[in-house]
Amino acid sequence: MPEESPLIKSLRAAVDAAPDDVPLRLHLAQLLLEAGHGQDAISQVAAALQREPGNAEAQALIARAVAPPVTAPATAPVAPAPAPAPAEPPRYDWKQAEDELSDVIPPRFVESSEAEPEPDQQPQPLSADGEDDPAGVSAWDVETAGLSLADVGGMEQVKERLQAAFLAPMRNPELRKLYGKSLRGGLLMYGPPGCGKTYIARAVAGELGARFMTVSITDVLDMWIGNSERNLRELFETARRNAPCVVFLDELDALGAKRSQIRHSGLRTTVNQLLTELDGVDAQANEGLFVLAATNHPWDVDPALRRPGRLDRTVLVLPPDEAARESILRHHLKDRPVARIDLRKLVKRTDGFSGADLRHLCESAAERALMDSVRTGRPRMIETDDLLAALAQLRPSTGPWFDSARSVAQFANEGGQYDELLAYLKKKRML
Ligand SMILES: Nc1ncnc2c1ncn2[C@@H]1O[C@H](COP(=O)(O)OP(=O)(O)OP(=O)(O)O)[C@@H](O)[C@H]1O
Ligand SMILES: [Mg+2]
Repeated sequence: MPEESPLIKSLRAAVDAAPDDVPLRLHLAQLLLEAGHGQDAISQVAAALQREPGNAEAQALIARAVAPPVTAPATAPVAPAPAPAPAEPPRYDWKQAEDELSDVIPPRFVESSEAEPEPDQQPQPLSADGEDDPAGVSAWDVETAGLSLADVGGMEQVKERLQAAFLAPMRNPELRKLYGKSLRGGLLMYGPPGCGKTYIARAVAGELGARFMTVSITDVLDMWIGNSERNLRELFETARRNAPCVVFLDELDALGAKRSQIRHSGLRTTVNQLLTELDGVDAQANEGLFVLAATNHPWDVDPALRRPGRLDRTVLVLPPDEAARESILRHHLKDRPVARIDLRKLVKRTDGFSGADLRHLCESAAERALMDSVRTGRPRMIETDDLLAALAQLRPSTGPWFDSARSVAQFANEGGQYDELLAYLKKKRML
């Protein structure tokens, strides 16, 4: 066992004193690796990755520690493999090391076509940092957490509808003036669970900042008679003061359930109040107020809420198509240590999976790689096999929703409100 150098000893002490300092820990790992303390280096990198899963330097180090010495993997589209960085003079050139290591790290994703993969087909980070966030915080500020429409994989049609219905008119006062009243009313998103209704609303919130208010049933409902209505009224008043503003009613079936089905009279008056607010006290009141709602049981929503001028437009939010699945998978793998993931294969085998199912798939695969690493004591990257093994244990969760949606679309399609759903069911041969 090689003797530890004084530098390593003192760095180790520094890391013990500041366990969350990731760059320091990686520096130590780097020196350990060069000094031949491979296992020790790996456990330092693992500790760093635990704190910062997406850290590229840590991923590079771990790849180097785990990779067979000297040559790069055969499938990697790399130029001649460079020799691993030798122990150089005391000053360490990080830039050079990164450049060299970039050839040793296996590619994160493989392209399964026979065509030679292009070197710069690395996954593009989906997050659009630098989105400006309008100042001003409202009482019902949502935890936007920097989410933007760019974080939403696929769903192009839904995004287009949202652009036309809210985003463009909100950003462009001229457009608002031009179309005036026709922009009133609201949009109801419906579809199977886990397919991104709430997620896309949060992305719209990220785009609009304080001009987006989320209303959930817990914000409104109050055990005291009359308080729920007052909450709703205050909420809509705040929205009107902040106009142009989007009010988002999530889980609308809970807040605006069919009054005929409600036994509790308190809830019935809440629905009435919601109707009043949507209509606006007078014609001008709701100018610049946009309402977005989501539900997976549109058939349980009070029909009065869906009359013209209220939530009169609907958008069906379906399970992601192939392109969308690919970007959702990329999105959920982007901060994880992955190597040579065959996305095409995964995309082909996940038809019918919701966004939430895909997220769960990535989590299970990560867990599998982690367990394996713990068992063998050698951390390794997440690979296609981990995802395939996780996939074998999963069923798409959207099945039961389509079972109930089918009969509604077939037998209760008044006014053609479920035409979009019927068309999808036909296309997928589910009828
Ligand atoms: N298009 C997408 N891109 C990226 N991630 C997605 C997408 N769709 C869904 N997801 C992931 O799935 C999770 C669940 O989605 P979300 O909660 O928005 O579904 P929902 O339609 O609101 O479901 P429910 O009807 O059960 O409320 C999200 O938090 C997100 O991580
Ligand atoms: Mg939801």
